[in-house]
Amino acid sequence: MATIVRISELKAHDGETVTLQGWLYNSRGKGKIMFLLLRDGSGICQCVTLKSDVGEDLFAELKSLGQESSLKITGKVKVDERAPGGVELDLHSAEIIQNASDFPIGKKEHGPSFLLDNRHLWLRSKRQMALMRLRHRVIKSFRDYLDNDGFFCVDSPIFTPNACEGTSTLFETDYFEEKAYLTQSGQLYGEASAMALGKIYCFGPTFRAEKSKTRRHLTEFWMLEPEIAYADLGQICDVAEGMLRYTLRQVLEHNQIDLADLERDPEVLEAYDVDFPRLPYAEAAEMLMAWQAEGRYESDFKPGDDLGAPDETMLGQHFGCPVMVTHWPAEIKAFYMKQDADGNALGVDIIAPTAGEIVGGAIREDDEQVLRQRIIDHDLPLDAFSWYLDLRKFGSVPHGGFGLGLERTISWISGVEHVRECIPYPRTISRLHP
Ligand code: 4AD
Ligand code: MG
Repeated sequence: MATIVRISELKAHDGETVTLQGWLYNSRGKGKIMFLLLRDGSGICQCVTLKSDVGEDLFAELKSLGQESSLKITGKVKVDERAPGGVELDLHSAEIIQNASDFPIGKKEHGPSFLLDNRHLWLRSKRQMALMRLRHRVIKSFRDYLDNDGFFCVDSPIFTPNACEGTSTLFETDYFEEKAYLTQSGQLYGEASAMALGKIYCFGPTFRAEKSKTRRHLTEFWMLEPEIAYADLGQICDVAEGMLRYTLRQVLEHNQIDLADLERDPEVLEAYDVDFPRLPYAEAAEMLMAWQAEGRYESDFKPGDDLGAPDETMLGQHFGCPVMVTHWPAEIKAFYMKQDADGNALGVDIIAPTAGEIVGGAIREDDEQVLRQRIIDHDLPLDAFSWYLDLRKFGSVPHGGFGLGLERTISWISGVEHVRECIPYPRTISRLHP
């Protein structure tokens, strides 16, 4: 028995005889030679098959295999820079597990709804495998960055009794004798955890009954939410920027093949690894109004409004890297944000080129009386927030954090426009299956 090796590790086995376990991605050839492309999830390897080496019978059997047939291939590793991926295998023998026929996703073009209906199989295509590996890297980089900076991972619950980000996008569910809501954000619990451990993050699925049908909206998405006791807005911005730039560098170091499969130019990512400009909302609003006046773009935006997609696109284009917009009009931000002396919310949104808002964060109101009044003013049920107010009674400190939308961040890094491809099994207003 030869050693079983994954394709991503093949280069370290030059000249050895090894076994690969995977699925047939594609095959071509004529006469006495055949090239089988085997994928095993870690990569794709070209297996060169000569009739003279394997005999008539096996050669014919391999030739009959349909796309996505499962098989084990044993052969000799040959590092060769001209081969796709820089290495290939000279096939000596093969064990066919299943000969699959009529795999529905072929090499021809398919429409998005057909692909989404077949998401469970679509995941096996080159671009989707690359995206899922990229997603893995991004998650790992976030966690590594925070873990190395003294943060503890403390997760927040998914069933919650109250809203965090407004009551209009709540998913309600029966919870025995009472109602529960799927969490919109782990933040409120994150604040409690930060009062215990100082620096924490939670990372998990979050839910929004968003009626929006845009390429940036999912009903279920993953959010990474650091929360830091004794932090000011500058520190919150520093952590978000440091983490995102570390992630870009990790992707550039480890995911070159994936970037190539996604036809993503690495130089674009290198250009994002610069100091992110920080500007108050008022300045951003002024720029947007000037661009509108110059006829450079069209938008309904006026000072005091939230940014819409065209406004975010303009800011992204102008700076060519993520930009941090701070000091927002309090009226358009959440109830928990602390305000400065001018009444601006101490919030920060990070707007990334093409992907729009990838991060939303803030300093939290830490005064019990002020926060209580906000809850009342926002028509939120005081009862449900009494535990949250406790945090302002027992050793209240300035603190803040942010929420990073994983799928939008992957869309930004990969250049893949639609967030539905940036999560394995997307949930949107019109999609619950498969
Ligand atoms: O700006 P949001 O609503 O902020 C919060 O939820 C805060 N409680 C987070 C915190 O401070 N801990 O959401 C944060 C990010 C957005 O910037 C966006 O990237 C992403 O979550 N997001 C969505 N991603 C996909 N689909 C949706 N429907 C999203 N809604 C928000
Ligand atoms: Mg936001």
